[in-house]
Amino acid sequence: MNESQRKWWKEAVVYQIYPRSFKDSNGDGVGDLRGIIEKLDYIKSLGIDVVWLNPIFGSPNDDNGYDISDYRAIMNEFGTMADFDEMLEGMHERGIKLVLDLVVNHSSDEHEWFKQSRSSRENPYRNYYHWWDVEKGKPANRWSFFDVNADAWAFDEATKSYYLHYFSRKQPDLNWENPKVRQEVYDLMRFWFDKGIDGFRMDVITFISKDTTFPELPEKYDGNFVQYYAEGENRHEYLQEMNQAVLSKYDIMTVAEGPGTTAENVLEYVDESRNELNMSYHFEAIDLGLAEHHQRILDPNGWKLLDFKKVYSKWDAVFAEKGWGTIYLGNHDQPRMVTRWGNDAPEFREISSKMLSTFLMTMRGTPYYYFGDELGMTNIKFDKIEDYQDIMTINLHTLFEKEGRDVSQLLESHKITGRDNGRTPFQWNDSPNGGFTTGKPWLKVNPDYTEINVEAQENDPNSVLNYFRKIVKFRKDNPVLIYGKYTLVDEENPNVYAYTRELNGRKLLILLNFTEEESAAALDSDFQNVKVLLGNYSAPSIDGKLKPYEAVIFEV
Ligand code: GLC
Ligand code: CA
Repeated sequence: MNESQRKWWKEAVVYQIYPRSFKDSNGDGVGDLRGIIEKLDYIKSLGIDVVWLNPIFGSPNDDNGYDISDYRAIMNEFGTMADFDEMLEGMHERGIKLVLDLVVNHSSDEHEWFKQSRSSRENPYRNYYHWWDVEKGKPANRWSFFDVNADAWAFDEATKSYYLHYFSRKQPDLNWENPKVRQEVYDLMRFWFDKGIDGFRMDVITFISKDTTFPELPEKYDGNFVQYYAEGENRHEYLQEMNQAVLSKYDIMTVAEGPGTTAENVLEYVDESRNELNMSYHFEAIDLGLAEHHQRILDPNGWKLLDFKKVYSKWDAVFAEKGWGTIYLGNHDQPRMVTRWGNDAPEFREISSKMLSTFLMTMRGTPYYYFGDELGMTNIKFDKIEDYQDIMTINLHTLFEKEGRDVSQLLESHKITGRDNGRTPFQWNDSPNGGFTTGKPWLKVNPDYTEINVEAQENDPNSVLNYFRKIVKFRKDNPVLIYGKYTLVDEENPNVYAYTRELNGRKLLILLNFTEEESAAALDSDFQNVKVLLGNYSAPSIDGKLKPYEAVIFEV
């Protein structure tokens, strides 16, 4: 590794906060910026470097802030611009950087641009969105993630035209082929950078460019459907333009939400010589074990560790020379890490949470760690649709009913895969509602808060929380874990994930048992003179025979 390849965002641990669910400061049941301000010392105590906040901008909240009606205002429920300034200053004083969410594939239908756009076919804002006039007949089918008919074209009576919305009807897609739209986006980005933020996570940025002739899709499309639907031919031109106009002017980081990106094409976004983005995150690992990806229906055969290892190893190799990767197991679109990838049964919840944190902090690539996973928070597993607040589950439920599909299959799967599982309020202590709010929480608090909460874990040196602090510090103290070469070991082992990391003559071996069985790793002769550096059991195994969900890091 040469010095010029070192970057602060490669060395950072990112902690993602879903502001709606972190801390409510005024008793209205919704988390807010003053709640984050109250908890800055807690955030600092984790040892993380960067906070990524989900959208905090003006929004009617059809999709919890991913439908923006004013890009330069703070959502009323979250507070004021003065609160934002104070929060940012509080983070910077503590050496924490702030990354915001850039949601510009679509806006809210309540954004002034869309109000203008839909008012007449001649309006100057008409071309800010994708319209299909009724005289041209019905547009070719486009699938929508959140539409109750799964139809991405909505008919608008006022101008007798259809508009495109890949997400909900209240999230019309912006027309990036219009240079004015792109300038508007660059302007609003400058507004936030000039306030001092340190980067953007870019929502579905692979969708911005589309074939605007909207041809019929092939009858059957294989695996990566995004290539037919989005990932238009101009996407790289636009990202390079954005880089030149805005990103290159600031010392900031960017990360693409990369639906549709593959190990074959991701470097087109993040190879530094192309001057586009810094990092991207893919869905290939997180979608393992799903029979139907977009509906989040589980495959009855579950997921296999062998596939998991294959995917992570393949993606690591992509960035061996160029670009930079990301590692995550949870976010606001995913369930709780321990339920999906570990084991949330009482006897294994803590140990498997610690094992997964070890995985995230010992891989190459910037770790994105989701708030609440540091406590080992679990899926709430709602059993009735009325408990859900998420437009995805609610609208899929309606769609399944309309199509006469098995609704119980959807509900069963969403107990494991549903997004609301990762959005239940943060558990601060064992007072009512876990200390999140004094009012009625916007989404039910997981009843396990009486046991799983910050206060209980602060006082326990062996808690999941204190292990997280330890493993974060361990990564930061050992550059081999950041920059070191990754090599998969004992490849065919179905229970154990084993790999080495090497840099400047140092070599670490990481062993992770992903099962509740005792499992042995097959190790070569190197393993004779090893030293244990860290483990998730108080007496780590030193012979490669691992206890359930055991994680051990050795110096080799
Ligand atoms: C991204 C966001 C998700 C949102 C969608 C539409 O996938 O992460 O939460 O619903 O885009 O903006
Ligand atoms: Ca509030």
